[in-house]
Amino acid sequence: MLYDQLIINKMNSFEINKIIAAILVTIFLVFGISKISDIIFKVNETGVVSYKVEALAGSSSDVKAETSADISTFLALGNIDTGKKVFNKCKSCHSVAKEGSNKIGPALYSIVGRVAGSVSDYKYSQALTSYGKEWTFEELNGFLTKPAKWIPKNKMGFGGVKDKTDRASVILYLNQNSDNPQPLP
Ligand code: HEC
Repeated sequence: MLYDQLIINKMNSFEINKIIAAILVTIFLVFGISKISDIIFKVNETGVVSYKVEALAGSSSDVKAETSADISTFLALGNIDTGKKVFNKCKSCHSVAKEGSNKIGPALYSIVGRVAGSVSDYKYSQALTSYGKEWTFEELNGFLTKPAKWIPKNKMGFGGVKDKTDRASVILYLNQNSDNPQPLP
């Protein structure tokens, strides 16, 4: 009887050993898999991070891609009357009148088609002086979407005109306030 009991105990402990072994294997597998997926995840994570950095660095070209899509379709969204109202946002810093003077920002009469940074008696930032491009409709659209991104380090303290219709409108309004309004594309 005692002997029988011993055998059963022995078998039990054998079973228990098997169970412990199975648990250990399971733990090892789970741990191993999570380690491996950690490694994979880290690779992904750096991938994502570097992608984000790229996206940040390239955001002015994102704006470019978005804004250069089709300038005539874009301008067709706007109208001059709305543009006059939108220009209220600019008024504190800019005059658009013929022979208007510089304020915090340069005078904007005849801005469309003018070379950036070319009002002779206005003290531009280095960024704008050295920009060298002409204010085409495309350039104005890009700049007014996000001034700080379009021409980094310029000193226009203005966040931009987010709304497409408003932006198209104010550009049309600028174009109208000119000795020589540019033909619409
Ligand atoms: C808080 C003041 C401020 C506001 C508001 C502002 N601007 Fe300006 N803007 C400036 C300054 C300052 C500059 C010169 C930037 C430089 O030299 O870096 C400038 C430059 C510009 C230029 C380039 C001019 C050139 O001769 O090359 C354009 C175009 C322009 N602004 C359009 C606008 C329009 C349109 C609005 C309104 C939707 C506006 N700005 C609102 C301050 C402002």
